[in-house]
Amino acid sequence: MSRSMRPYLEYQADRVEAVLAAHRAPGRITGGTVGPRLIRFFLNPAPHIRLAAIKRLSEDLALAMRVPTLRIDRDTEGVVLEFANPNPRPVDFLPLLERVMPLPPATALLGLGDNNAPIMARLSSPEVAHILIAGTTGSGKSALLRTIAASLVLGHPPQAMRLLCLDPKGRTFAALAAMPHLSRPPVSAPEESAEVLRSLVRTMEARDRCNEHAPPIVLLIDELADLVMTGGQPVTEELTRLLQRGREAGIHVIAATQRPSAAILSGLMRANFPLRLVGRVVSSQDAQMAAGRGGTHAHLLEGRGDFLAISGGDATLRFQVAYIDAEELRRSSAKLTL
Ligand SMILES: Nc1ncnc2c1ncn2[C@@H]1O[C@H](COP(=O)(O)OP(=O)(O)OP(=O)(O)O)[C@@H](O)[C@H]1O
Ligand SMILES: [Mg+2]
Repeated sequence: MSRSMRPYLEYQADRVEAVLAAHRAPGRITGGTVGPRLIRFFLNPAPHIRLAAIKRLSEDLALAMRVPTLRIDRDTEGVVLEFANPNPRPVDFLPLLERVMPLPPATALLGLGDNNAPIMARLSSPEVAHILIAGTTGSGKSALLRTIAASLVLGHPPQAMRLLCLDPKGRTFAALAAMPHLSRPPVSAPEESAEVLRSLVRTMEARDRCNEHAPPIVLLIDELADLVMTGGQPVTEELTRLLQRGREAGIHVIAATQRPSAAILSGLMRANFPLRLVGRVVSSQDAQMAAGRGGTHAHLLEGRGDFLAISGGDATLRFQVAYIDAEELRRSSAKLTL
């Protein structure tokens, strides 16, 4: 926690205790966490006070604390009061990576949840396998791809992690060009991208024949819609095969696009990304399209790395993407290749 937050937190804790006391529902704030987007206070109510009585006071508490909304819930810490952090802060990638090292095999670091827990994705698990990243321009898709790529190369030795990077704009992965995890530099030309896909399908078939699945090969694609539109039917078919059968061969696809619309990405393709990471979108219709289901409220996200992780079940997990800029990544990978 930054030192300058302390007076604010103490003020808010005092407000909470004062409101509760005034309404004859006394309790004490015993601690809390300051997350990148949300602050959580742990409340220890007096023994005779019911949770429902505290929940009924949420509007009065929000008013006294001058926060737009206050969510009151119960978890293992007791009663939790959750409200917006007035100083939302970026999450630095390198210190967070250090905190979670050594990474488990085939695992990527994504960011930090609002309970301050690091959020990671284990590619070999069937609930992850392939990841579709969606969100409007500026939501932080390319930054998220770079974070994933950075964690894969900085967190795993080259013999345990192979990367293929496709990016028509040629910027997202440029800092990784010299890394030994890449057998070829990031590809931006459409014909060459199509060639990479074809040869990856051949690798998958060869691995299938001898029941091989190591080392993992991760295909990272920025601007998936561009790739599919310029590559046409063959690219769609090859991608779909990789998505349907890649996992058993240790091949994983992580792709970003602004809108995973049916007009561009086939239903079969979209259905084969078990995990979706959704950043800010502009409308609730776009939220539905990006998440593959309703009710996620992705249009209310803040942008710049504010993301939801959405997989099979109903639960969504909100997190702030850890950030590393291209220059910082180039420097850290140069250190590694020395
Ligand atoms: N996790 C983050 N933390 C802090 N700032 C971020 C984060 N992600 C993105 N940003 C900021 O937002 C800008 C836009 O991010 P990015 O280029 O990743 O967006 P995008 O979704 O790829 O947009 P486009 O669809 O236009 O390619 C970045 O240059 C950076 O300044
Ligand atoms: Mg981008």
